[in-house]
Amino acid sequence: MSWNTQILAWAAAATLGSGVALAQEMTFGGDEDQAYAADLWAVMADAKLVGEGMVRSFPYDGVAPHGMMLETFYTTASVNGHSGALVVKRNFGPEGVSIDEVLADPGKHLGAVTVMFQREDGYDPETQNWFWAKYLPDGTLDKNPKGMALAGLVGKNADVGCIACHSGEDDYLFTTDAMVGMAMK
Ligand code: HEC
Repeated sequence: MSWNTQILAWAAAATLGSGVALAQEMTFGGDEDQAYAADLWAVMADAKLVGEGMVRSFPYDGVAPHGMMLETFYTTASVNGHSGALVVKRNFGPEGVSIDEVLADPGKHLGAVTVMFQREDGYDPETQNWFWAKYLPDGTLDKNPKGMALAGLVGKNADVGCIACHSGEDDYLFTTDAMVGMAMK
């Protein structure tokens, strides 16, 4: 069943009053995803990967869609008792910004933080259990044009979005093959 057909089927079911909860069938951005994203943000803040007093690295030139200047961190983290690989990317702008400008005032140039966290087995084996989130610098979730919070299986079975684009890579990681081998069981 295609995604659109699926949505129509749910809509029809809901109209018929069968009690199908549309919100629970969303691939991403639902209450559970938002709550998990908040827990993940707190863990990252504790680890000084985001928020006040975050550690800095030397930014490098980025490519669309992530920003013109990037900092990326590879580590592991523990969220709600599960430990997994964590990749945090800070996206700086605007277009044309220089490394010196970013270093002089990183807070002013930070546009968003995009994160991949490898969740427990069984979360979504088909996409290697990666949880995706895009935060604004204050830790709130960014939204897509439809107003859906960017957290969870963003872009799964779609033409656009995190998973749609990253699935071009075997392990969903563009930058490296090294870290995940270490972190995965
Ligand atoms: C149109 C393609 C595209 C989309 C959509 C996209 N990314 Fe990426 N992403 C990339 C590319 C290319 C890189 C490598 C860029 C670099 O770091 O120099 C990357 C790198 C990353 C990295 C660093 C790990 C890695 O893959 O090397 C993270 C984390 C990340 N993206 C998260 C996200 C999240 C979260 C979303 C959705 C909100 C997203 N990306 C959407 C293309 C995309």
